[in-house]
Amino acid sequence: MSTAPLLIQEISQLQEQLSRCRLAKQTIALVPTMGALHQGHLSLVEAANNQADISVVSIFVNPSQFGPTEDLAQYPRNLSHDLKLLASVHTNIVFAPTVEEMYPAGSPTSREPGKSARRWEGLQRPEHFAGVAAAVYRLFELTKPNIAFFGQKDYQQTCVIREMVETLALDIDLGICPIIREADGLAMSSRNLYLSPAQRQQATALYRGLQAAFHAVQQGEVDANILIQLARQQLEDAGIDRIDYVAVVDGVSLEPLHQINANTFMLLAAYAGDTRLIDNLALQPSPL
Ligand code: PAJ
Repeated sequence: MSTAPLLIQEISQLQEQLSRCRLAKQTIALVPTMGALHQGHLSLVEAANNQADISVVSIFVNPSQFGPTEDLAQYPRNLSHDLKLLASVHTNIVFAPTVEEMYPAGSPTSREPGKSARRWEGLQRPEHFAGVAAAVYRLFELTKPNIAFFGQKDYQQTCVIREMVETLALDIDLGICPIIREADGLAMSSRNLYLSPAQRQQATALYRGLQAAFHAVQQGEVDANILIQLARQQLEDAGIDRIDYVAVVDGVSLEPLHQINANTFMLLAAYAGDTRLIDNLALQPSPL
């Protein structure tokens, strides 16, 4: 049996509801999203329900994290479908504010992110993380969650948010959940909806690239350039010719590495047609 979540669009109602929960000593978990939900998002809600009494899912397509040439206008929006999915995983509260409610006149839509925002997505999408940081900070401020959940799918985003929480000494725990993938390995993403069948096929090369690097590491490869070449080859073989980056980075600083260490990630971003996709994988060091 699934029960419909309580849909709230106004801040005053959200705060009234949440103060009641706090009075009843209930813990609150927040899952920020932009809607167009899929199993990846739902896995965060399940984690939220496992670790707190009340799950709050926000649905807000945040204009300030989209660049001027990006897909804000066409970003998929389907609140009634999202609500059905959220009911199926027993979400307690859905907060879906309008832009005016979220950012009343004068409230900042951009917030300077820390140094983890500098490279990779930060270079390719200037302003993106400033927009993300503003939205997430505002949601933290409105919800005051005990814990908030994010997906490893957007690995750099988790680093930017962790840095913000640490810098501001916010009293919020973070839960980072693994990437949920389609059967053929493609990381679930709301943007996969844009792919034609041929591009959808091409897109499977991203995970193949990550796996090629991962398997090479398992066999003892430690040289970042060789791992990057292996991954790039998979993309190129699939006919992907627009690659923003394929990087081997330290999992905390996100600085590029020459040789892998105990906490190494491969991050990549590439286009299938006009759709920009990102993915990542933890690369373990080979046993020495
Ligand atoms: P959105 O892209 O809707 O993603 C919401 C959350 O779901 C993010 O934490 C994201 O990493 C996670 N997620 C997406 N695909 C996933 C997958 N395949 N497996 C596991 N988790 C996945 O990320 C945003 O929205 C926005 O930037 C937001 C944080 C809401 C700020 O506006």
